[in-house]
Amino acid sequence: MTTLITGAAGFIGMHTALALLENGETVVGYDNMNDYYDVALKELRLAKLEAYPRFTFYRADITDYPTLTDCFAKEQIRTVIHLAAQAGVRYSLENPHAYIQANVVGFTNVMEAARRYKAEHVIYASSSSVYGGNEKLPFAVGDDVSHPVSLYAATKKANELIAHTYSHLYDLPTTGLRFFTVYGPYGRPDMAYFSFAEAIMANKPIRVYNHGDMMRDFTYIDDIVNGITALKQHVPTRAAEKEAAVRTPDKSDAPYRIYNIGNHQPVRLGTFIATLEQTLGKKAVKQYVPMQPGDVPATYADITELQALTGFQPATSIDDGLRRFAAWYLTYKQQAAKLKNPAI
Ligand SMILES: NC(=O)c1ccc[n+]([C@@H]2O[C@H](COP(=O)([O-])OP(=O)(O)OC[C@H]3O[C@@H](n4cnc5c(N)ncnc54)[C@H](O)[C@@H]3O)[C@@H](O)[C@H]2O)c1
Repeated sequence: MTTLITGAAGFIGMHTALALLENGETVVGYDNMNDYYDVALKELRLAKLEAYPRFTFYRADITDYPTLTDCFAKEQIRTVIHLAAQAGVRYSLENPHAYIQANVVGFTNVMEAARRYKAEHVIYASSSSVYGGNEKLPFAVGDDVSHPVSLYAATKKANELIAHTYSHLYDLPTTGLRFFTVYGPYGRPDMAYFSFAEAIMANKPIRVYNHGDMMRDFTYIDDIVNGITALKQHVPTRAAEKEAAVRTPDKSDAPYRIYNIGNHQPVRLGTFIATLEQTLGKKAVKQYVPMQPGDVPATYADITELQALTGFQPATSIDDGLRRFAAWYLTYKQQAAKLKNPAI
């Protein structure tokens, strides 16, 4: 019953692993602990997981195929939840090779190992960024996604194509999840809500892209985790896909599915910032700037398919979610300051 979670020391990985461990399941975590953002935060997340006896950790890179296959050989992996990746849209303009390594070479290694060691189901992270600048809202999984506007998005679309190949050739059941802007406690410092909180508390200006006129389908981490864990039970099969006989971009007769996982309630960036100011009890100094290359004006998830399959129903409002994030963030910062200066 072992589940391998790659990217376990990451934001979504830690929360997913915690949910499974709390449910009494056995989890193998795999993460290279890279320094794309503060490694201390990754260590903090990892420490939470290491408190559980059913958790084993590999501090290793998914591009290191021998170590990855050793892990599969030793741990009898049944389900793979593949979340390790080089994330972030803007950084893909600065360091394209990091994306090709982690998201294309690493992804292929995970698929190859899963096939060789006969994993029963691979659930992997795609992204809402595959929709690029699509103007039809909400974004539906059957929409055309042939025009990515960042290398990050292109690698996530490539993941879906590679997954289809493995499902088609080797009957490896794969489920791709297009996540929509996930936020919450233990979140990612490179994401706007986190860096805005840092800047607001330090009285530094925040850069409000496209003059705040952007819509994002912000999705609270607990809702995401509920969706991922519910999907574990829904393993795509060739028989079912054949019987359904649907040929759309997200379906074929291979055991391969793609789902949107988002809040289904986009919020204007301006509103989001106002809510964050309220929850932190402090006003932001705003610097209005144009849209950045690779950015898209709106994201909005059509979640009909996931709802029909699992009953997925995001339950966290932006007010509640940001309040929980802010409460965590303020304690986290206090602890970090104490560690630096025990006299505080
Ligand atoms: N958070 C979001 O809003 C969001 C949105 C869309 C898609 N995603 C995708 O979801 C997944 C998880 O995202 P997250 O927000 O938790 O990001 P994260 O950066 O916090 O987690 C990713 C983890 O993977 C690890 N990692 C990266 N490259 C690795 C490698 N080569 N070998 C081993 N480990 C490696 C990192 O150290 C990190 O801990 C990613 O695939 C990301 O692209 C996230």
